Amino acid sequence: RKSEAWSARFSEPVSELVKRYTASVGFDKRLAMADIDGSLAHAAMLESVGLLSADDLKAIRAGMETIRGEIASGAFHWSIDLEDVHLNIEKRLTELVGDAGKRLHTARSRNDQVATDIRLWLRGTIDDIVAALEALQQALLAKADEHAGTIMPGFTHLQVAQPVTFGHHLLAYVEMFSRDAERMRDCRKRVNRLPLGAAALAGTSYPIDREMVARALGFDGICANSLDAVSDRDFAIEFCAAAALVMTHVSRLSEELILWMSPRVGFIDLADRFCTGSSIMPQKKNPDVPELARGKTGRVNGHLVALLTLMKGQPLAYNKDNQEDKEPLFDTADTVLETLRIFADMSGGIAVRADRMRQAAAEGFSTATDLADYLVRKGLPFRDAHEAVARAVRAASDRGVDLSELSLDELRAFSPLVGADVFEALTLEGSVNARNHPGGTAPGQVRQAIAAHRQRLGG
Ligand code: ARG
Repeated sequence: RKSEAWSARFSEPVSELVKRYTASVGFDKRLAMADIDGSLAHAAMLESVGLLSADDLKAIRAGMETIRGEIASGAFHWSIDLEDVHLNIEKRLTELVGDAGKRLHTARSRNDQVATDIRLWLRGTIDDIVAALEALQQALLAKADEHAGTIMPGFTHLQVAQPVTFGHHLLAYVEMFSRDAERMRDCRKRVNRLPLGAAALAGTSYPIDREMVARALGFDGICANSLDAVSDRDFAIEFCAAAALVMTHVSRLSEELILWMSPRVGFIDLADRFCTGSSIMPQKKNPDVPELARGKTGRVNGHLVALLTLMKGQPLAYNKDNQEDKEPLFDTADTVLETLRIFADMSGGIAVRADRMRQAAAEGFSTATDLADYLVRKGLPFRDAHEAVARAVRAASDRGVDLSELSLDELRAFSPLVGADVFEALTLEGSVNARNHPGGTAPGQVRQAIAAHRQRLGG
């Protein structure tokens, strides 16, 4: 017999194959503590509206404490004959406390129960992810602070564009991760609503107090429509979308770390504990952690698409399809959380090779824009200045030298407006210092931005 919860209706047991196919306890037992919290709040409400005696409530509380202990110690026996986490716990409760356990499911269905459990679990998970995002931001801020004045080439099209500071570059990621945390917090508002009371789909004929349950469980309010309450998984999809963006940002950072660590570039070195060697090539030190993070981004994106696809054809209200929401959701949360925690640690383990960065910035005509801006300050229209500098770059490039290595006379050949003060405009420091406005790469601006972020993060 599959489950005493509904088996009287059936004349034969389900096959072993179907039992295994339909059982979710293997993965939803992870919701056990949320399930118990939800049941206790529901039971307290039943008692307060007169649907459960005080003695029954006491028995349920004692039984649930025993079950919590059994689960925590690993002594709890999970059975796939009892399909899911909800029926496993309810059955054990009844074993422990008798009829009181059988009364718990009054005015409730597994449909509103499971929706409540996922929301409780996800709410806690979001809080963990926000904390991990903040720790990563703090780690990046520390690195940015060390390198507020370290000059590297900034790229567009992966071609040297203009000098930037490494601190400024890292702050771009701080911005991304701060938006990610904001998205997670925003998503949490829609997660934090109580489905219980919707029962199977239509509500219940008992005089329940949903607000009381919502308050007891720390929800901001109740789901307003019973059909929506049991069938909505938007909140999980939204979480996975926010998670996919987190991973997208991690993946972009990973790609840069991998590139920077390539001996051809040589901008950074990663601490050994984040790298592995090769079984055949003795010289290898591979950036495995960022590569794996880049790879795991595909897996998280896949989970988002899985959940969207899971929902798209479902009529109202609850359908068993929804049992398939859990594994993608759990794996998304685990992947994001582990990745963020590793990256917070790894950011501290980035060794910057400032000389290599500087050399690369000096080699790519990265101050050509500064020369054009210099000519504009001397009165030349920008388009003409652009053209004059383009000719100068071409000449310098043909000779294999940098703009700053051309003599004053050579530079004057491209524009008579060039004066002796031109060389200040052509230095890397001059270039970054000149971009001295909020959002610009000047070291002073980077330090101000770091201070503002630290204040926002509270520490
Ligand atoms: N294990 C189910 C799920 O994850 C619980 C709800 C099942 N409800 C039902 N009527 N079969 O969605």
